[in-house]
Amino acid sequence: MRNIISAACLAAITFAVFLLPVTSGYGEGGGSAPLGAFQEKDFEKPQTCRQCHIDIYEQWSQAMMSEAFTHHWDEIEYFDLALEHAKRNPDFEDAVAGCNGCHTPLMWLTGTKTPPRPSENSRANESVSCDICHTITARTGDPSVNFNYVNSPGKTKYGNRDGIVSPYHETAKLEFVSTAEYCGICHNEQNPVGLWVKSTQLEWAEGPYKADGVQCHICHMPRAPGRNANTAKNAHPDVAQHLFHGAHDRGKVGGAIEMRMHPVERELEPGDKAVIKVQLFNGKCGHKVPSGSSEERQLWLRVVAVDAAGREYHLPVDKKGFEGEEQTITSNELAYQDMGYMLGRPDFKGIPRDALPEGDRIFCLAYFDPEGRRTVAQWNTASFGTDYRIGPRETKIETYTWTVPDDIEPGKVIVRGTLNYRRLVKSVAEYLKVPEDETEIVHVNDAETWFEVFD
Ligand code: HEC
Ligand code: HEC
Ligand code: HEC
Ligand code: HEC
Ligand code: HEC
Repeated sequence: MRNIISAACLAAITFAVFLLPVTSGYGEGGGSAPLGAFQEKDFEKPQTCRQCHIDIYEQWSQAMMSEAFTHHWDEIEYFDLALEHAKRNPDFEDAVAGCNGCHTPLMWLTGTKTPPRPSENSRANESVSCDICHTITARTGDPSVNFNYVNSPGKTKYGNRDGIVSPYHETAKLEFVSTAEYCGICHNEQNPVGLWVKSTQLEWAEGPYKADGVQCHICHMPRAPGRNANTAKNAHPDVAQHLFHGAHDRGKVGGAIEMRMHPVERELEPGDKAVIKVQLFNGKCGHKVPSGSSEERQLWLRVVAVDAAGREYHLPVDKKGFEGEEQTITSNELAYQDMGYMLGRPDFKGIPRDALPEGDRIFCLAYFDPEGRRTVAQWNTASFGTDYRIGPRETKIETYTWTVPDDIEPGKVIVRGTLNYRRLVKSVAEYLKVPEDETEIVHVNDAETWFEVFD
């Protein structure tokens, strides 16, 4: 079990695993009702809602929520990797059927175990739709995990306001809709062996934002004055914008971690040890960074020094000496061998672990397959490494000790740190033929400092 988990979180896990077998492990357990309790006609199409909720529809259609089933990497991981894995090892059939419980709930609720590919244009493509979210009335247990929603489709749409009138449907206010626990239904995921392979809402609950009463909505559905429907009688001062902006939004990720750096000594001679300290502050996220799909997200800090002649030197990060630290320093050792089995390529030797220059600090939680090798398949994860992500309102300090080279150009040495983010490891994307936009490098932040070298 993950060694950083707090007592509160451990209690939650114990609770989920031992007292609530109904939610422990997707497939048979998740969901409000047995696979297939409803028919497609019970849920309305998003285009129907668009007639009156134009702004909200257009916002949603640009968010990953509307692409959770159709987005290329989702299609590739589900159809080309997870389904292939389940064919070779039927033990994973339930887990793989469970992907749809979060990515295209309509399919789960109507009992379509393997939906058609997105190119077939079935209703699976609605992904996480308006009517799925606005007919959720409760969850089957505590904590929220593995799509343990309870849906009551029909005339009433559940929302955040009392006493408003729609010509088309009934409305009802439901406190639950406005809580982080509602989001946690799909943003906490426990895999078949009970590991918390996604825990965004639990991270939030452990951190300062729950105590401050700041729900997910404040940051991902920010409020602004206006009408929530073009047919609405009245405007409201605080309409929930359906932005759901996260990993796929450069502006959201950019600046999410703040950083500064300084040298311990400003004046040095060749052969001296320069010591540079970097502070990284997570002041903007309600959870750890990265969160969610941590098995494949990368956040890394590169530090270089440039001497007065313009020569550049890479500074490797100082080791802190904690257990499992090797996973938190970029490396290109071979990894992800489990994909070979999944794809029926037994001689697959693996691909570079980080596919980045080596020696940089990488803030991550390592996921290991049953044979102890790094994996991006959260369903195939058997253990975790040390959690070295940056927690909400946490500051991490990294140190760089560097012997000033004898042949350095005397004068001012500029030291630069750059913090970058990538959604999917490049080597994995290339191996699985995921289009390049998924591996774009997003600039999170940078900082600069200097010291001077005298002869
Ligand atoms: C014919 C127009 C129309 C259509 C179609 C329509 N709505 Fe509405 N809806 C409204 C109006 C008007 C309101 C009330 C606005 C106000 O006064 O705040 C509303 C309010 C809501 C609310 C807020 C409820 C609350 O209590 O906070 C939700 C949620 C909602 N609609 C969801 C949907 C969904 C989902 C669909 C598609 C299945 C849909 N609407 C289709 C007109 C419509
Ligand atoms: C992932 C779940 C989710 C999806 C998908 C979703 N909504 Fe919502 N919606 C919410 C939540 C949560 C709130 C309440 C926000 C709050 O309490 O701050 C809300 C609020 C609303 C409101 C009331 C806004 C206000 O503040 O007056 C309307 C209207 C609405 N949604 C319509 C829609 C329509 C139409 C769609 C599809 C185009 C849609 N929603 C898709 C979760 C969702
Ligand atoms: C019915 C399941 C479900 C519910 C409920 C839900 N989400 Fe999501 N959400 C998803 C899925 C699935 C994705 C992943 C989409 C993808 O494939 O990249 C996602 C993605 C996101 C993203 C990331 C977008 C990105 O750019 O990577 C944010 C932010 C988000 N959700 C916020 C919320 C918030 C806030 C709530 C509660 C108001 C919520 N979600 C409720 C299923 C859900
Ligand atoms: C105080 C503001 C804040 C709160 C509260 C908050 N988030 Fe975020 N969230 C952010 C920011 C900023 C990012 C972009 C940086 C990042 O990717 O972590 C983000 C990123 C995300 C991502 C993408 C993570 C990744 O690396 O793939 C998801 C998913 C998400 N949030 C869901 C949620 C959910 C669910 C909640 C509530 C349990 C929540 N957030 C609460 C600010 C917030
Ligand atoms: C409990 C809900 C849940 C289950 C079950 C689930 N997912 Fe997800 N998945 C999410 C959420 C929420 C995100 C977004 C997290 C984030 O942005 O960090 C996500 C993100 C992803 C992404 C990354 C999308 C991107 O563009 O970065 C892929 C791919 C994916 N899931 C595939 C799968 C597959 C395959 C399965 C089944 C083996 C599965 N998921 C099971 C909720 C779930």
